[in-house]
Order: sequence, then structure tokens, then C-alpha cells
Amino acid sequence: MKSNLGTMTLLPAAALAVSLACGVPVHAQSATPAPDQETFDVGQLFATTCGWCHSDGGRAAGKGPQLMNTTRDDAYLRSRIKSGKSGAMPAFGETFSDAQIDQIITYIRQLKPREG
Ligand code: HEC
Repeated sequence: MKSNLGTMTLLPAAALAVSLACGVPVHAQSATPAPDQETFDVGQLFATTCGWCHSDGGRAAGKGPQLMNTTRDDAYLRSRIKSGKSGAMPAFGETFSDAQIDQIITYIRQLKPREG
């Protein structure tokens, strides 16, 4: 009975040293209550509606252009959001109030590259 297991190399405890990287449940406590309609979450809007075409919250180009650091003036941004562009971007003039569009423009102006 010659069972030759000599070639089997046992790596010292290295494998076991990798302890269970247990997924620490991170409860995002950042949920700020939105008490009234004046709190219009543009970030959320970009994560959904606009994000299909304006990537990363408007920081990067998608099907549409990057919005961060736009050289367009407010009037241009406003009319683009309200009227859209045929074949390129839907019109949102019926969807948002002027005040909400103001907030969208403010959001675009405040966009900064993500840290890290
Ligand atoms: C179906 C894709 C699509 C969606 C959805 C979309 N956009 Fe656009 N958007 C575009 C395209 C394409 C352009 C460039 C149009 C052009 O050629 O002038 C654009 C242009 C713009 C501009 C003008 C910026 C510039 O430099 O030309 C703004 C502001 C803008 N979008 C905001 C929004 C906002 C806010 C939303 C969500 C409410 C949104 N877009 C949703 C495709 C989209």
C-alpha cells in the first residue's frame, strides 16, 4: 500500500488567516426627512429620471452631456429642462414647477467631482 501524498503541499495557515470579512451592516442613517414639497430632492431625481442620460448625478456624460461645470447660462439650462430637445431629451416643463427647475439649476451649479 503505497499512497504517495508527498507532492501535496500544505500552505501554512495562510488560508485560514483570511478571517471572515463579515459584511458589517452599514445602516445609512442619512435619511433626512422631507417634511414638505419645498424639499425637492434633486439628487434623487438625478439618480432616477435624469440619470439615464446624465450619468453620476450629472457629473459625467451619458447619452446626454455632462452637466457639472457647464458653460451654459441659467436661461439655457432652464429652457432645455422645460422644453427638452427633440430626439435627444424629453421635456420636463409639465413635470416640474419653475421653483423646482430653479432647484435643479442650483444643483447643477453646485456639482463637484466626487471625493475619492
Ligand atoms: C433621454 C435622455 C435624457 C434624459 C432622461 C435627460 N436628459 Fe438632459 N439632455 C439630454 C441630451 C441628449 C442633452 C443635449 C441636448 C442638446 O443637444 O442640446 C441634454 C441636455 C440637458 C441640459 C443642457 C446642458 C447642456 O450643456 O446642453 C440640461 C440642463 C439637462 N439636460 C438637464 C436634465 C435634467 C434635469 C433631466 C432630468 C429631469 C434630464 N436632463 C434628463 C438627454 C437627456
